[in-house]
Amino acid sequence: MPYVNQSIKPLSTRVNEKGNLEISGCDLVDLANKFSTPLYVLDEVSLRQMAQDYKNAFSKYEKIKILFASKALLTSSVAKIFSSFGFGFDVVSLGEMHILLNAGITFDKVSFNGNNKTYDEIVYAINHNIDHFSVDNLYELGFLNKIAKSMGKVQKIHLRITPGIECHTHEYIQTGQLDSKFGFDLSALDEAINLIQNEYKNLDLKGLHAHIGSQIFETQCFYDEIQVIMSEIKRLQDKFNIKLDEMNIGGGLGIAYTKEDNPPSVYEVADVIIKAIDDGCAKFNLEKPTLYIEPGRSLVCSAGFSLYTIGSEKIIPNVRKYIAIDGGMTDNIRPSLYQAQYSAQIANKKDEEKYETVTVAGKCCESGDILLKDIELNSPTAGDILCVFDTGAYCYSMSSNYNSALKPAMVLINNGQSDIIVKRQTLEQLTQNDVILDRL
Ligand code: LLP
Repeated sequence: MPYVNQSIKPLSTRVNEKGNLEISGCDLVDLANKFSTPLYVLDEVSLRQMAQDYKNAFSKYEKIKILFASKALLTSSVAKIFSSFGFGFDVVSLGEMHILLNAGITFDKVSFNGNNKTYDEIVYAINHNIDHFSVDNLYELGFLNKIAKSMGKVQKIHLRITPGIECHTHEYIQTGQLDSKFGFDLSALDEAINLIQNEYKNLDLKGLHAHIGSQIFETQCFYDEIQVIMSEIKRLQDKFNIKLDEMNIGGGLGIAYTKEDNPPSVYEVADVIIKAIDDGCAKFNLEKPTLYIEPGRSLVCSAGFSLYTIGSEKIIPNVRKYIAIDGGMTDNIRPSLYQAQYSAQIANKKDEEKYETVTVAGKCCESGDILLKDIELNSPTAGDILCVFDTGAYCYSMSSNYNSALKPAMVLINNGQSDIIVKRQTLEQLTQNDVILDRL
């Protein structure tokens, strides 16, 4: 049996007696009829399974702190589910902090990341007793110290470093290499420590943080990353006589979007990570640090799928057949932005078995709004329901109102039950912030 992140479809996916696709006891055609399309759906069973797998895989490491990377998919319900597993959160904005508070989550397990945190964000985070900031650069170090001082607070921090590791993933989602907008390059670290030790008395440095990229399949990258972080911890300890006993290695574990994708399980990755720490402790003569991990995609992606209704088609003889859906780059920008590939299936057709190669286009006024290029589908025709798998991460959170499209609803399903967890945007909401001036 594959693990959740290794399986393209949720493990409960089957074709039911009506010939329709069914996931966690919910007929996908019924879901489309009940909630309309486009629709984001989240399978709670897969979500919880993956969270449990993370917990189990890292349970061998006593000092583990799992933070969900909110940017992958944050709604109040999702936050409540992860919180029930004891997970904390990595946030990057005022908006993400607001959603956590809305879900009733306190900030004692929250880390604030990002390369340009604003005054308002910093004050808000400190006011809500955030556990720590991952400080990204020298400017922020001084800025944060000043704000913390004015608020009479000594704030716990980590320093984010660029460990100089390149892993094989799309250039836009690579972050650990030297030429990156994120983090201190190693040569700038000493200056930061000097400032913290001698001037910035309102900062309490506890550890180092790095994140090397996303959709990673090679476990070796994580091993190498940990060696770099631990060797820096040792170097700084010797040079400055400081104890850094916390280490955040970011997120990055990949998932299977297509048959070609072969990600490791979280158990394999956890074993490599724990071995890397053991090796690092032995090599550098260090005590075991508290380990923070910040998975985003791998926790939510495989639990999500999107439902669309097929509409028009265009056939260019000997070139291509396009079919169009009622969503597109507004609800899933990843194919246009990263050439991301997905797997999909018609939800209402078991019987016909007339597969053909088509290109699925979105409805936006943009030639690049292509969701699936050259994909085999079972005689797709107008009115059919198309299910695109693995849309749980970075789809809703990157959605837009381009062409004034309304953002889809999101439904949580669990063993035959289906409930809205994000309502569909309304036309009124589209204009609620518009101001019509008297003089117009
Ligand atoms: N920690 C930090 C500091 C990050 O920047 C990220 C993701 C994560 C953790 C979580 O990484 P994950 O486990 O999700 O790979 N929009 C892109 C992905 C951007 C990832 C940004 N940072 C996509 O749709 O592929």
